[in-house]
Amino acid sequence: MFKKILIANWKEHPKSGREAVKIFGAAMRAKTPKNIKTVVCPPFVYLEKCASTAVRRPNAKGRAALGAQDVFWKDEGPYTGEVGPAMLRALGVAYVIIGHSERRRWLGETDAMVNKKIGAALGAGLRVVLCVGEPAGVRKKGIAAAQKFVKDQLAKDLRGISSDKKIARRVVVAYEPIWAIGTGDSADPADVRAMAVFIKKQLSFLFKSPAASRRSFVLYGGSVNGKNIADYLQYEAVDGALVGGASLKADEWKKMVEAIKTLR
Ligand code: PGA
Repeated sequence: MFKKILIANWKEHPKSGREAVKIFGAAMRAKTPKNIKTVVCPPFVYLEKCASTAVRRPNAKGRAALGAQDVFWKDEGPYTGEVGPAMLRALGVAYVIIGHSERRRWLGETDAMVNKKIGAALGAGLRVVLCVGEPAGVRKKGIAAAQKFVKDQLAKDLRGISSDKKIARRVVVAYEPIWAIGTGDSADPADVRAMAVFIKKQLSFLFKSPAASRRSFVLYGGSVNGKNIADYLQYEAVDGALVGGASLKADEWKKMVEAIKTLR
């Protein structure tokens, strides 16, 4: 069993496939011990290239799993521009990020859409990285307001999702306060720990299983880098990190892996 998960969210980067293969290759070379699971989520157009790079290096030390940054809720049909869960599976994709705040903001993604995507992705056998987190205005009102916001998101996004043990285990929640994303203003580690514990409690409730709080994975995301990652992952309740900007830099990726390695 792995202990911590490190997920790279490349967002809309880089501009060329060549560069994508380079960055992916570097992530594959970072020696990752068994207790760290790494997942790389490139834009759709680079998934195939990255998948074949992974196939060519079957014994690479840091063999990263592939993830996508989004998915549609139908496998096939008249849905211009969309990519379905079966297509991702066929490419060897294991994880999919759903409900990232940037999609909620720029693409008008609602909790109802997020909910449908989660259902479809889990149905296809993918693991889901569900992103939740409050905006600055809510956080200013205090921790209780932030918790209420996250609780509401979780309830809406996971409504009706099977509480079957095997399915629930495939849901990873990334707590990403919006004000911390890409700003350098990373959240206070102790606050993140408290939120992770809170989220696990909600998952137990939503999945109707006290054990879900032990089994589920809750990550932190928002200006994580090689310097601060250990401040978050030192806590047992924080099972990993979802990293944007720093995940595109080979040296930062290495530093993050190294920092996790030293944790006990
Ligand atoms: P960041 O992004 O690490 O660049 O803040 C995190 C994310 O949006 O997943």
